[in-house]
Amino acid sequence: MPTFPDFRYPLCRRPLERKKCGRRWELSQGEDMISNAGEPCQRRRGEIHAVNGNLRNICSSGGKFSAGAIFFHPPAILTASRKRQAETMETFWIKPKLYFGPEPMAALDRLAGKRVLIVTDAFLASSGLLDRVKNRLTGAVEIFDQVEPDPSLRLVAQGVRMLRDFGPDAVVAFGGGSPMDCAKGMCWFSDRHPPLWCIPTTAGTGSEVTSFAVLTDTDQGVKYPLVEEDLLPEAAILDASLLEGVPPHVTADTGMDVLTHAAEAVAAKGASPFSDALAEKAFALAYRRLPEAHAGSREAKQDMLLASCMAGMAFNAAGLGVCHSMAHALGGRFHVPHGRLNALLLPGVIQFNAVEQRTAEKYARLAKLCGLAANPRALSSAVTRLRSGLKIPLKLPVPAQEFRAALPGLAAAALQDVCLPGNPRPVTAGEIEAMLREIGG
Ligand SMILES: NC(=O)c1ccc[n+]([C@@H]2O[C@H](COP(=O)([O-])OP(=O)(O)OC[C@H]3O[C@@H](n4cnc5c(N)ncnc54)[C@H](O)[C@@H]3O)[C@@H](O)[C@H]2O)c1
Ligand SMILES: [Zn+2]
Repeated sequence: MPTFPDFRYPLCRRPLERKKCGRRWELSQGEDMISNAGEPCQRRRGEIHAVNGNLRNICSSGGKFSAGAIFFHPPAILTASRKRQAETMETFWIKPKLYFGPEPMAALDRLAGKRVLIVTDAFLASSGLLDRVKNRLTGAVEIFDQVEPDPSLRLVAQGVRMLRDFGPDAVVAFGGGSPMDCAKGMCWFSDRHPPLWCIPTTAGTGSEVTSFAVLTDTDQGVKYPLVEEDLLPEAAILDASLLEGVPPHVTADTGMDVLTHAAEAVAAKGASPFSDALAEKAFALAYRRLPEAHAGSREAKQDMLLASCMAGMAFNAAGLGVCHSMAHALGGRFHVPHGRLNALLLPGVIQFNAVEQRTAEKYARLAKLCGLAANPRALSSAVTRLRSGLKIPLKLPVPAQEFRAALPGLAAAALQDVCLPGNPRPVTAGEIEAMLREIGG
C-alpha cells in the first residue's frame, strides 16, 4: 500500500518546488502518483486539477497521475484572495498600460519580431477580426483558438501545453472574458509566465484590467474565480471598432455585467474614493449608453468599452459581492451567459443590500447620477426596466424542478465563492436560496 505525503506538500519532493506550495504544484519526472487501488493512468501530462480536500481524496478518486500533472488548491487561493481583499482599503494601483484612441492597435508594434501566442475563440479566429492583430505582428505567431465560453481547467491545460511547446515571448488574448481568462490561466499555470496583452472584443468583463480569472471545473460543475496579482495583464488595447459586429444579445448580456461590476464595487466592503470614482462613472455611462449600444450605435459601443474597463478597475480594487457569487454558482452548474445571470440577479441584490444604511446611501447616489429618484428602490426598478428593454428573459432557462433540486448546492457554492466576503451585508444560505428562487425557471 503506497503512502502519501502530508497534504501541505502533497506533490513536491524537491525543495525548489516546495516554494510553489499553496499556489500550484506540478509533478516532476519520477513523481508519478499511484492510487490505492493501483488504477491505470487516467491523468495526463499538463492536465490541471483543482484539489478540494486532501491528497488522499484525489488519489482515491483519481487513479494515477503522471509527471507534468498540475494541481492547485482553491481553498488556499481563496484564503490568499481574502487576505488581499481585506487590504484593498489601503491600496489602489493600476498595472496594465492602456492603449486607446483612434489607432490603439499600433501599440502591437512593441511586439515586433517577438514570438507571440494568440489566445482566442473559434468564431473570432475565423471572423477576419483577428487579421487586425496578426497583420501587426512580424515575428513567429501561433494561435490557440479553442476557447469556449466559461473556459474549463481542461482547456487551460491544453493551452499550457501549447505555451510550453511554442515558448512565446508574449501572449495576446483576443476576445471576451473567456479568451482573456483562459490566457491568464495559461500564463499563470505555466512556468514561463510570459507577459500578457489583452484585447477585449466585448464590453463586459473588464478582465483586461483585473487580477481575476474565472475558470470552470467541468467535472465538478464549479466556477473558480482565481484572484492573484500575478494574473494582471501587462497591457490592454481598447479598440472599439472590434465591437461593431457584436450581436445585440451579447451586447445586452455583457453590458449588464458592466453595470453589475460597478454596482457591486460601489457597495463592496473594499470600496474607496478611488474605486467609487471609477464605479460611479462606469455605472452612469453604461446605464445611459447600453440601450443605444444594443441598438447598434458605434459611439455607444465605444463608451461601453470604456465603462467596462473602468468598472473592471473599480471592482479589482473594491471587490464584488453576493450577486457575482450567485452568478458563479449558477454559471458553473447551468452554463447560462455570465452577464445574463447578473442581469437577473442584480435588482434583488440591490434590495437585499439596501437594508443597510451606508449601502442604501451609496445606491441612492448612483440613482441620482443616472437622473433617477435618489433611493435604492428607484435604482433597482431602473435596472429591471433596462433589462426588459434589452429583451433579456425574466427567468432562468432551467426546468423548475431541476432548479429547486439544485438550490442547496448552489447556495453552498455561492457561500464558498471568493467574491462573497466583499458583500456589504452578511448573507446566509437561506437568504441566497430566497434570492435564487426569485429568478428560478
Ligand atoms: N476576469 C474577470 O475579471 C471577469 C469578470 C467578469 C466575468 N468574467 C468571465 O468572463 C466570461 C464571460 O466573458 P464575456 O461575457 O465577454 O463572453 P465570452 O468571451 O464568453 O463571449 C461571448 C460570445 O461573444 C462572442 N464574441 C466576442 N467578441 C465578439 C465580437 N467582437 N463580435 C462578435 N461576437 C463576439 C464570442 O465568440 C462568444 O460566442 C465568463 O466566464 C465570466 O465568468 C471574468
Ligand atoms: Zn461579472
